[in-house]
Amino acid sequence: MKDNMDQSAAGSGIETIFDAHLTREPFPEDLSVLDPNYVPDNLLHREKEHETLISGLIVAVHGKTPQNHMLYGGTGTGKTASVQQILDVFEKRNKNILKTIGSETLDDYVEVPEGFVNHVFIDCKTNNRAYGILCTINNAIYGADEAPFTGWSIDHLYETLVKNLEQNSRPMIVVLDEIDNLLQEAHGNDTLLKLLELNNVSIVGISNNINTKMYFDSRITSRLLPKEIVFSPYRVQELEDIFQQRADLSGTNCDPSVKAYLGATVRQRSSDVRYLVSLLRHSIGVKNFSGDDVLTEDHVNTALDLTENEAIRQTIACLSTQEQLVLVTIAQCENTEMNTGNTYPSYVHLAKSLGMIDLTQRSFSGMLGELDLKGLITAKVVNKGKYGRTKNLNLEVSQADITAALKGTVLEDVIKF
Ligand SMILES: Nc1ncnc2c1ncn2[C@@H]1O[C@H](COP(=O)(O)OP(=O)(O)O)[C@@H](O)[C@H]1O
Ligand SMILES: [Mg+2]
Repeated sequence: MKDNMDQSAAGSGIETIFDAHLTREPFPEDLSVLDPNYVPDNLLHREKEHETLISGLIVAVHGKTPQNHMLYGGTGTGKTASVQQILDVFEKRNKNILKTIGSETLDDYVEVPEGFVNHVFIDCKTNNRAYGILCTINNAIYGADEAPFTGWSIDHLYETLVKNLEQNSRPMIVVLDEIDNLLQEAHGNDTLLKLLELNNVSIVGISNNINTKMYFDSRITSRLLPKEIVFSPYRVQELEDIFQQRADLSGTNCDPSVKAYLGATVRQRSSDVRYLVSLLRHSIGVKNFSGDDVLTEDHVNTALDLTENEAIRQTIACLSTQEQLVLVTIAQCENTEMNTGNTYPSYVHLAKSLGMIDLTQRSFSGMLGELDLKGLITAKVVNKGKYGRTKNLNLEVSQADITAALKGTVLEDVIKF
């Protein structure tokens, strides 16, 4: 009997909290526009980059193969979103062309209509082997599943693609997003070379890192010759405008001081718009939890405390797989006197256990420099006289953050801390 009474008391306690929350106003803001995958129609302050890329690709409409492009810039600077929106315009025009000739697909046509531009978007973070890439390109031409995703020999697949490109005779724009993940693969340069040898193909490579160039071997460098477009970090004013756009889209009622405060706060840490949007989303959560109507700097400050770890995790999650592996190595070796020489063998061991290629010690050292720039480790160069130079290493993030950021990736299983 007593048990029953206690249970119903607990029940009524929960019900009271329930009721209190039910009588509160629901979130008045539209949070869907603050979702990490949401992309606004208008990407602000990238007009120059869009102009350069479109002017380079537009010749494809007239049947000419555009020159290759490489887009560089830190994470969250709008590279992927920009390229996808440009491809969307090509796609819309393709559909219009098909409509005017009364067809839904290219399948019925031997002669591909004038103005039609083939294009394909490949995310090398998930698709970085020759077979998968060639298969995706081939099947993008006619929107068909002609080649199976496994089972053919590479040679047969390549020949089929060459034949299809010849028959199609229209230019093909191949976007390779996060191209670092391709180049750091055992045969990455060979795969890229195969693509560069195809007729009518124009490559648009995207990288979060300007040093990606160092992974191109000489065969690639002499053929790729890309027009380079750099997506520089957003300035404070630009971040403020991007903030205002999201605040307006979501219908958030903001104190006038919040815009400058949030812009400056984000710029201090990174120029990643994902971080800005995530901070805004959390700040709105804090505001609503406090029952306030207007978003203030105080809400942002509380959200900052809550999201500090999230920013670090986001940075780790956005690294290339090889960079993540280097970071895991450093975290694994922590507590010993770490330098380039004594951590490199552990890295090689981990790479091999995952079936990944192991980078040379020089490239490994280059990646340590990158991780240092991102604030995840410190890598201090020290001169060891006749023994040359090395980098003394320190981990600057917690192992817990690394574990959380890499959950669900291929690296999850090798983490032992
Ligand atoms: N100039 C911008 N204006 C508005 N939103 C932007 C802008 N740049 C980036 N974003 C937002 O940030 C997110 C990350 O952009 P993305 O293009 O994926 O970055 P990157 O590929 O450079 O890492 C996108 O979903 C987009 O909503
Ligand atoms: Mg991207």
